Amino acid sequence: MRKTRTQPSGTEHAALRLDARLSGLLIAWYDENARDLPWRRDRDPYRVWISEIMLQQTRAEVVKDYYARFLAALPTARALADADEQTLMKLWEGLGYYGRARNLQKAARAIVNDLGGLFPETYEGLRALPGVGPYTAGALASICFELPTPAVDGNVLRVVSRIAGIGEPVDAPEVKKRVTEALASLYPAARRGDFTQSIMELGATVCLPNGAPRCCVCPAEGICYARACNAAADFPVKKPKKERREERRTVLLLACGEKTAIRKREREGLLGGLWELPNTPGELDAQGALDLAAAWGAKPFAVTKSFRRMHIFTHVAWEMTCFSIECAEESPLFVWTSNAELESVYALPSAFRKLLGRETT
Ligand code: ADE
Repeated sequence: MRKTRTQPSGTEHAALRLDARLSGLLIAWYDENARDLPWRRDRDPYRVWISEIMLQQTRAEVVKDYYARFLAALPTARALADADEQTLMKLWEGLGYYGRARNLQKAARAIVNDLGGLFPETYEGLRALPGVGPYTAGALASICFELPTPAVDGNVLRVVSRIAGIGEPVDAPEVKKRVTEALASLYPAARRGDFTQSIMELGATVCLPNGAPRCCVCPAEGICYARACNAAADFPVKKPKKERREERRTVLLLACGEKTAIRKREREGLLGGLWELPNTPGELDAQGALDLAAAWGAKPFAVTKSFRRMHIFTHVAWEMTCFSIECAEESPLFVWTSNAELESVYALPSAFRKLLGRETT
């Protein structure tokens, strides 16, 4: 890292001090520049909660459609508590981390059954709900209930690490704690929710990762360590990443007439309880795939296509060898579904969905 100035922080356990002007600068900027996002139109905790959990998965532009569909189908905590699993998984399909959707439902059930249908209005009360960690609790408590509780995720850590020039890895819990405390001390008496959202908004639209920050339009330009050193690319500092495990799998796209075979995954583990295309560990050749389809009772005729595809999860990458196989028998080991049902009923994660309708490669 370039050291053109003495770093203002980085000494172990020293409290982190942020310029007291930060909240005023960000809120004034937010007033002019906040995106008009559907979940910002009111402060209803149910709606904000759903948006915040979705935003942990992907970008706001992608969340918009998911959010609209989810709230149209499940407009209240009670509706979510009562939803059947298939409906819930279908609404979450493609977002990943399906456990988050299951936790949403567990929390909705706790709200309905144990809390008289009312959302907790304190940080601690929110934090006690399944799936609500410090980030989500901080976001909800400040946005919905105007409490001075920061919501510190990777984006906020990037923003603060640049402004304060944090030379230690931001993924260390101690650093996160210091950032949270420093931000908490800056909360204005009013507009607390907007302060939380203004930092997030800055991270999402200006203080961008991967060498693309737009410092010249940043309201914190004048108080930013990284800007002063022209060193935004050096922040945030992160711990070296653990290597991602690679797993080979063979996936069989079994077709019987117009129907495709799917089956339910085991409840536990990766993509637990979701639907999948039949697959097996390791890499089979075409004959091996035909033999397996025969062993599964599908009476295969022939492989009509083969291709490879990769899918990257957080901790594992699947290298998939795929065979499309025409079959004569709807083996009872599988559910044989039409394309229409596959679209509208079954939650098939992206790792498998992206294999459908593919030309030979
Ligand atoms: N990312 C997560 N929550 C957000 C919010 N409320 N505003 C902007 N970006 C976000």
